[in-house]
Amino acid sequence: MGMKLPKDFLWGGAVAAHQLEGAWNEDGKGVSVADVMTVGSATQPREITHGVLPGKNYPNHEAIDFYHHCKEDIKLMAEMGFKCFRTSIAWTRIFPNGDDAEPNEAGLKFYDDLFDECHKYGIEPVITLSHFEMPYHLVEEYGGFTNRKTIDFFVKFATTCFNRYKDKVKYWMTFNEIDNQSEFNNPFLTMTNSGYFVDEQENPEAAMFQAAHYELVASALAVKEGKKINPDFQIGCMIACTPYYPNTSDPDDILLAQRVNQLRCWFSDVQCNGEYPKAIEKYIERNGFRPDITAEDRIVLKEGTVDYIGFSYYASRNVSASKVKIDDLHDIDQAVVPNKYLKTTDWGWTIDPKGLRWSLNFLTDRYHKPLFIVENGMGAFDKVEADGAIHDSYRIDYLRKHIEQMEKAVNLDGVDLMGYTPWGCIDLVSAGTGQMDKRYGFIYVDKNDQGEGTLKRMKKDSFYWYQKVIKSNGEDL
Ligand code: BG6
Repeated sequence: MGMKLPKDFLWGGAVAAHQLEGAWNEDGKGVSVADVMTVGSATQPREITHGVLPGKNYPNHEAIDFYHHCKEDIKLMAEMGFKCFRTSIAWTRIFPNGDDAEPNEAGLKFYDDLFDECHKYGIEPVITLSHFEMPYHLVEEYGGFTNRKTIDFFVKFATTCFNRYKDKVKYWMTFNEIDNQSEFNNPFLTMTNSGYFVDEQENPEAAMFQAAHYELVASALAVKEGKKINPDFQIGCMIACTPYYPNTSDPDDILLAQRVNQLRCWFSDVQCNGEYPKAIEKYIERNGFRPDITAEDRIVLKEGTVDYIGFSYYASRNVSASKVKIDDLHDIDQAVVPNKYLKTTDWGWTIDPKGLRWSLNFLTDRYHKPLFIVENGMGAFDKVEADGAIHDSYRIDYLRKHIEQMEKAVNLDGVDLMGYTPWGCIDLVSAGTGQMDKRYGFIYVDKNDQGEGTLKRMKKDSFYWYQKVIKSNGEDL
């Protein structure tokens, strides 16, 4: 038995344009960074190619063809009782190259129709402006966010969207999981966050601090502009909240975990508090990085703080000081060790519902702002039975346990939580691996990793379960 949540709690589901829309080159859309990523697997990283090359399998090109199925799909979400639907606007539908003088009307119209379709069912759109979808042209021509010019391109895109959809969208987020790039050696995370090839950087860590700074300025400027366009907008940041637990009670592990959190949380520190935390200023200084941060930038950061914190929660990680030196730690990943108390998914992600309650309390204590869980879920293989049923009890179990912890955080700990949108409410292309068979959905889509399938939509057991959860406002789990 669960606990009730506030009456206006935003139950829903989350997706991102590039992972479900397909139609990668239709109606004037340009090539995005997602369009140059091939399919990978749990063990094989996606290849990021220089442009779209012949003979490669690029799963986002067709994805689940939501572009042509959106009415049917939104109807299914409405049937589950969604109060909100989180998606993103593909930057390349609006500005195909990123530096175009004028927006592409066909792209703008697509989202007009999509938002109208949502409102038809009383579903509130929750919109991420940039979810791993930078125009590839900005990568090639400008080096993505390593270049200050990209700030203006983003702000133009953001204000175009704010102006166009000011009466249709109230909830916005600027950059998806902006803190991912703290893992600055990871080619996928730096490309999806900031649009540059990490192997082309002289000093990948310095490059990340520069790119992230420009991106934070772009985010703050977007918040400022957005508020002028419609003061009722709620504009949030979006981070991948990952609790880093000390592996033991050894004070070295405790200090290390704190340091790792500093290296991970400074993005949201800037977006929520309007300034760099001291520990990061010092870290940048003592490592001799020289990011271009102007006095004017600092004012913008102060003026463009966010209204709420959107975050994803999937897994926690343990860190051990036996593997690294605390003051010399740069790459967080090097400190990570397995947690013997937790099971993992088939992709090696820990399953830790209590980590969600920890995250909700941690973010509340740190920022004192409303929170929005905009992603949570477990990637899993699903089996379609002969009669077409999909018995995904493991998914129900995962979500139930996380919702229980979320409800405790709200009811027992007083966390101010706006809503909950589980990730990939309809099966879609995995961001990390490009697979279709790493599934999160309540709705199954008939397509596999090789790109074969009819694209038919089918309801899983979790579809009916989630419908009941929403109907009872979280009591009937
Ligand atoms: C988050 C992203 O990192 O996790 C999503 O915001 C992504 O885009 C989700 O799909 C799950 O990750 P993956 O790699 O399983 O798709």
